[in-house]
Amino acid sequence: MTAGGGFISFEGIDGSGKSTQARLLADALRKGGQDVLLTREPGGSAGAEEIRKLVLEGPPDRWSPETEILLFTAARRDHLERTIRPALDAGRIVICDRFADSTRMYQGLRGAGLRLMVDSLHDLMIGQEPDLTLLIDMDPTTGLARALGRQGAEERFESFGQQMQEQMRAGFLALARDNSDRIRVIDGARAPEEVAADVARIVADHLARATVA
Ligand code: ADP
Ligand code: TYD
Repeated sequence: MTAGGGFISFEGIDGSGKSTQARLLADALRKGGQDVLLTREPGGSAGAEEIRKLVLEGPPDRWSPETEILLFTAARRDHLERTIRPALDAGRIVICDRFADSTRMYQGLRGAGLRLMVDSLHDLMIGQEPDLTLLIDMDPTTGLARALGRQGAEERFESFGQQMQEQMRAGFLALARDNSDRIRVIDGARAPEEVAADVARIVADHLARATVA
C-alpha cells in the first residue's frame, strides 16, 4: 500500500526503452510484494484502446494536430476514469507507459499555439500529473533504429523520422528542467539491466518518501 505517490509514468522518444523499463519495474515491485497496475497510453481502457487504433494507424496526415490533441485527450480521460483513478483509489501503484507529457511534446511541438492548446485542454479535462515521471533519454538515431526494428501497423509517428525525434528529445529535456520536482532523467543508452537499476533506485526513494509523507 502507498499513501499517495503511487502514480508513475515513463516518457521518452520512440524506441528509448520505456515499455521494457516499465515492465521490468512492474516485475521488480511485484516481487517485492507491491500491488502494481501496468498500463499504457494511448490506451489502457477499452474505449482508449479503440481511440489508439484511430490515432496510430493510417497515413501521417490522417488527422490535424488539433484533432489529435482532442483524440489523445479523450483517450486519456477514459483511461483516467476507468483504469488509473480506481487503481490509485484502491492503493495500487500505477505504472503508465506515456501520459500527458507525450501530448505536450508530440502534438504541442508541431506548431505555434499548440502547446497552449494541449495545456488548456489538460487543465480542463485531465487535471492530474503523475507523482513521478521517469524520462528515458536516448539519442534519436539509436531510438529510431530500435523502434523501426519492430513490426506492426502502428507506424504513423515512427514514420515522422529523425528530425522530429531530435525536437522531441530536446523538448523532453526542457520539460524535465522545468518540472524537476516530478521528472527524473535517466540515460537510456546502456544495457537494460543498468537502466533498470537506476529506475529501481529512484522509485524506491520516491515511494519511501511518499509512504512517510
Ligand atoms: P519504447 O517503449 O520506448 O518504444 P521499447 O522498450 O519497446 O521502447 O524498446 C524498443 C526496442 O529496443 C525493443 O526491441 C527492445 O527490446 C529494445 N531495447 C529496449 N531497451 C534496450 C536497451 N537498453 N538496449 C538495447 N535494446 C533495447
Ligand atoms: P507508444 O506505443 O508508446 O510508441 P513507442 O513504443 O514507439 O514509444 O506510442 C505510440 C505513439 O503515439 C508514439 O509515437 C507517440 C505517440 N503519442 C502521441 O503522439 N501523443 C500522445 O499523447 C501519446 C500518449 C502518444
